[in-house]
Amino acid sequence: MTVQSPGFRSLQAERHDYRPAVEGTVPDWLSGTLVRNGPGRFEAGDQRVNHWFDGLAMLRRYSFENGTVRYSNRFLRTEAYDDAMAGELTGQFATDTRSGWQRLRDVVRSLGPPAPTDNANVHVARIDGRYVALTEAPRRVAFDPETLETRGEFSFDDDLTEHITAAHLVDDPHRDELVGFTTQFGRTHQYHIYRVPTGSDERERIASLDARPAYVHDCSVTEDHVVLVEPPLVLSVVRALSPLSQGPVDMLDWRPEEPTRVLVVDRETGELVSEQTVDAAFTFHHVNAYLDDGEVVLDLVEFPDGDIVGAMSMDALDGEGFPDVPDGRLVRYRIDPSADTVERSQLYDGGIELPRVPRDRVGRRHRYAYGQVTDRAGANGLVKVDCETGTAREWWEQSVYVEEPLPVQRPGGDAEDDGVVLAPALDAEKDRTTLLVFDAATLDVLARAPLPHAEPFGFHGRFFPEV
Ligand code: CO
Repeated sequence: MTVQSPGFRSLQAERHDYRPAVEGTVPDWLSGTLVRNGPGRFEAGDQRVNHWFDGLAMLRRYSFENGTVRYSNRFLRTEAYDDAMAGELTGQFATDTRSGWQRLRDVVRSLGPPAPTDNANVHVARIDGRYVALTEAPRRVAFDPETLETRGEFSFDDDLTEHITAAHLVDDPHRDELVGFTTQFGRTHQYHIYRVPTGSDERERIASLDARPAYVHDCSVTEDHVVLVEPPLVLSVVRALSPLSQGPVDMLDWRPEEPTRVLVVDRETGELVSEQTVDAAFTFHHVNAYLDDGEVVLDLVEFPDGDIVGAMSMDALDGEGFPDVPDGRLVRYRIDPSADTVERSQLYDGGIELPRVPRDRVGRRHRYAYGQVTDRAGANGLVKVDCETGTAREWWEQSVYVEEPLPVQRPGGDAEDDGVVLAPALDAEKDRTTLLVFDAATLDVLARAPLPHAEPFGFHGRFFPEV
């Protein structure tokens, strides 16, 4: 049997309101709940999923009150979950155990491509007062943020067409709205960029742009713009609609001879105010964007090519030790819409992924970017990059794998880095995950809250102060 690293091993147990014995001190002011999403189980019957992105959605909840921590984890009860419990893996990123013949039969029966998966394992958001788990298939699942119980499917009250969607929604506190996009296949393919005002379940279209179409995972906003970066990792629509397709991984085609497009849209008028190209590069995650004297500054994590997607297949991840995947680089694009230019520079030498800025910096000038350090042997650290000076502060411990770090500012604090950074971290030797609370200024560890088990690595989360 293949050796599985603890971060990619299925977790069976669900815990509710576990109270870890906290070492150190959680600041009294920290009040609210971090909810994270990610794959938690990787098998159905005796079959293992093909890709990390295909594990069954498991929510994790880390709640803070008066210096104490409570922890819960629970699988989303979805159709994909029921199928997996019945021994079938269905309709995901790279995994479908139905035979080609079965899939063909299902397509003929339904006179259309297979239904998209509801395995919403990528991210979470608060939409119209509901808490929703998100993935890139256009199905969303509501949950109770206190109990993590599944609360049925969430649907927007609009008719925006989407064949693929973004699990990342930009949460802009300055405008009280979420910004996201969908991809529509057709005679011409399009990205539809939209906003969802707080308190609404209706997406308002900001703009529709011609799409290659490519695999676009994230976007960012400035005060006045939405920025999309379209790498030449092209989606083959013909292969997508083929009943023999195993999911989106099957239809991705890296075209290094084609450039990456950088698209800047006016947030009010929907006008495409800048369309620049840079040499081919792939990106999952934007850090943030802001306006600087008429120029758009965009920080993101860039990979040299699309190999990173294949590098996260279970074939590549399973085995002795921890997998060696390509490293992302923290890069800044400075876009001048009036001069039609874009400059690209690197902000940090090390490997980095899962970047975040504090919520109140979204769409505004940020100085610090927090991220996971990915280029250490036998560890994933935490880094705080000073994007002004190009210096960085790092934290890491041997055999400890830090997940997406989330900065939370102290209410009433003035400095950008006055607050904490929250991150679960798996100690592979101890075979246990600990929630770490860092000082956001120094990266000193303020508190460690050991969880009752090793958590499979998750993707993304949000801090909800109201929960
Ligand atoms: Co992501």
